[in-house]
Amino acid sequence: MALYIGLMSGTSMDGIDATLVEFQPHDDQPTLIATHAESWPTEIVTRLHAICTPGENEIDRMGKLDQEVAEQFAIAVQALLKKSGVKSSAITAIGSHGQTIRHRPELGFTLQIGNGARLAALTDIDVICDFRMKDIALGGQGAPLVPAFHQAVFGIANQPRFILNIGGIANVSVLPGNSEQVFGFDTGPGNTLMDAWYRLHHTGQYDAGGKWAASGTVHHPLLDAFLSHAYFALPYPKSTGRETFTPNWLHSILADFNNLSTADIQRTLLELTAQSSAEAIRDLAIQSELYFCGGGAHNPLLCERILAHLPDWTGASTDALGMHPDWVESIAFAWLAHCFVEKRSGNLPAVTGARKPTILGALYPGK
Ligand SMILES: Nc1ncnc2c1ncn2[C@@H]1O[C@H](COP(=O)(O)OP(=O)(O)O)[C@@H](O)[C@H]1O
Ligand SMILES: [Mg+2]
Repeated sequence: MALYIGLMSGTSMDGIDATLVEFQPHDDQPTLIATHAESWPTEIVTRLHAICTPGENEIDRMGKLDQEVAEQFAIAVQALLKKSGVKSSAITAIGSHGQTIRHRPELGFTLQIGNGARLAALTDIDVICDFRMKDIALGGQGAPLVPAFHQAVFGIANQPRFILNIGGIANVSVLPGNSEQVFGFDTGPGNTLMDAWYRLHHTGQYDAGGKWAASGTVHHPLLDAFLSHAYFALPYPKSTGRETFTPNWLHSILADFNNLSTADIQRTLLELTAQSSAEAIRDLAIQSELYFCGGGAHNPLLCERILAHLPDWTGASTDALGMHPDWVESIAFAWLAHCFVEKRSGNLPAVTGARKPTILGALYPGK
């Protein structure tokens, strides 16, 4: 058997999700051994948020953050190893997604920081990172990368399944249950705009359980204005990032709407995520099974509203498939590291638009 560590910090920047995962030889089914969530120091998050928007002196600021993010990743790895009582020498590799600070597939690049060399130096473990680069080099979007993993762990014969990961951005994987191609794409905003609006009006980080949104009502002209964003009408392959659905974009739309209550705006943002993701899904199948993962799976109002747009579907969290929704993405990067080590391709050209399947990632040896 082989042990891998998955490290994931998504666009929400709510924390580093670390998982310890075991694989049996010649088997791609992960067994989850231990988990750890490491919070970001507030001061680093502030600088990470700032660097997501073009500004002054970006290279120096990024170079410093690149090291600091790697140091936080190493802290998460040490905490995970301590919790599980496993030595670093027992780990085959870390699969580190990195922190995305810019995603511009249309310009031929995507940028995840969290210096792999530094992480390898701090942990003495092989680090596989920069998973998105090779797909982009082959003309792909470099995203989403999780559909191949979703198929490996959640796909079954004769039963189509849809997996909706609701992080900062939401992405869907379509597992056909037959010989048709697995595919998927980013549907648009997940929690990112709801989080931004919530933080403007409250002291916490997010609207727990969607309670604040539930106190408001949907404003349909505002919802229509949100849904007129060009991204929703784009054909797939497509992927997006928080630099597309920014607070500035939100405020530019809100400028045309006066006297709305802040709670009504939150409720309308929740409906934007619900309707945009559900409509993208409904275009693909009349009826199927939908499974939620990512932080949005903890928002009952959001899940209820998505399913309200999909009346004949069944819906549940990935817990129902044996994987807790908080750890799916992190386990996916342990799985991708395992694919790299076993020289298996990790991308799906039907998803990303790349010219061909390829091995994803770059290795920094730990020794
Ligand atoms: N209990 C909850 N109620 C509502 N929303 C939640 C809850 N827990 C997490 N979230 C949302 O999920 C987000 C984090 O989701 P996550 O899957 O980690 O996203 P990312 O991959 O972008 O980091 C939080 O910022 C928050 O918006
Ligand atoms: Mg997260």
